[in-house]
Amino acid sequence: MHPVRVDVQTSTGAYAVLLGHGLSGRLGQVLDDHAVGARRFVVTNPVVWRLHGDAVAAGLPGVEVIQVPDGERHKHLATVARIYDALVRGRADRGSVVVAVGGGVIGDMAGFAAATFLRGIALVQVPTTLLAQVDASVGGKVGVNLPAGKNLVGAFYPPRLVVTDPQVLGTLSRREFRAGLYEVIKYGMACSAPLFAKLQADTKRLADPAGDSLVPIITECCRIKAGIVSADERESGIRRVLNFGHTAGHAIEALTGYRRFRHGEAVAWGMLVASQLAVMRGVLRREALTALEALIMTLGPLPNVADLQAAQIIEGMRHDKKVVNGTLHVVLPTGVGTSTVADDVSEQEFADALTRVGLTA
Ligand SMILES: NC(=O)c1ccc[n+]([C@@H]2O[C@H](COP(=O)([O-])OP(=O)(O)OC[C@H]3O[C@@H](n4cnc5c(N)ncnc54)[C@H](O)[C@@H]3O)[C@@H](O)[C@H]2O)c1
Ligand SMILES: [Zn+2]
Repeated sequence: MHPVRVDVQTSTGAYAVLLGHGLSGRLGQVLDDHAVGARRFVVTNPVVWRLHGDAVAAGLPGVEVIQVPDGERHKHLATVARIYDALVRGRADRGSVVVAVGGGVIGDMAGFAAATFLRGIALVQVPTTLLAQVDASVGGKVGVNLPAGKNLVGAFYPPRLVVTDPQVLGTLSRREFRAGLYEVIKYGMACSAPLFAKLQADTKRLADPAGDSLVPIITECCRIKAGIVSADERESGIRRVLNFGHTAGHAIEALTGYRRFRHGEAVAWGMLVASQLAVMRGVLRREALTALEALIMTLGPLPNVADLQAAQIIEGMRHDKKVVNGTLHVVLPTGVGTSTVADDVSEQEFADALTRVGLTA
């Protein structure tokens, strides 16, 4: 079967996102077809490699495998240094390629290593979580965390190719999978009414990672993101709508030490906060908020927010410099599938929206 192809434009040329069942087991062929890198270095982690390494290696004869520890807490410069060391030991040169096989953490970190090693060698993303397939692998942002905060060091560094195989999602935990679905809902609510309607119609079947209904949905998300980042590579305008749900979402994640919520779960709460705010401002009809709530809630339970204090969230945002002169930027939906960026949201307004979705006043 031919893969589906979505093209992304960048200031330095275009790249393709290829989507198809089984592609991760045919990487050698795919990379040959696209003339990417003679020498290939997979960067992955033990969790992903144990589950999918045999299949990936079978399709990539002679590949060198660089394994780094699993988890967001390892997404920092020391791990990038380990990747550089392994590339040096393997005698990687300007013609080599880094193939990132894993979730968003691997993609961001291996991507940053590729962007900087020898001032940049080819990068191929092979995303293995739903979040990475619909979001992190497309758009060319790579980077790592500093002790002072998430993603504080990074680059815009487009991959040469993104190879997306929905089949690998079959091994994700239900929770991890659902967390990715909330980002899918984000695309629907922020920029695509047809996608939102498809999600409403298919909620039950969607919950099945192995199901066929997923492929068109992942493809649609990639198309949406590709369209947006092609128009605004460096997030100076329209790309900001993809931050829908992320203002409150990030703050909720940070306040709970990145332990209670998966990123997508915090974004789900954040979308409810932003939509509540939009209703309070009279730019969104209440029925649209109700539809969003219903879609989020039918997917399954979200970790609780009732014990979190709105005032602490605001305090955290001040500390993160998200609040400037008492106001903050928030992406507000103006309907199902349309949104705008408000830059004049007051702390009080934001706190009210937080308490309306269930945080403590
Ligand atoms: N670059 C971007 O534009 C962008 C966009 C969104 C998020 N991100 C980044 O992505 C990261 C989050 O990514 P994530 O949610 O994929 O988390 P993750 O990479 O930590 O993956 C989640 C867990 O699932 C495991 N896993 C991966 N694939 C699997 C599979 N097929 N089967 C079973 N387990 C599997 C991972 O090893 C990990 O334990 C964050 O660091 C975030 O900053 C980047
Ligand atoms: Zn996100």
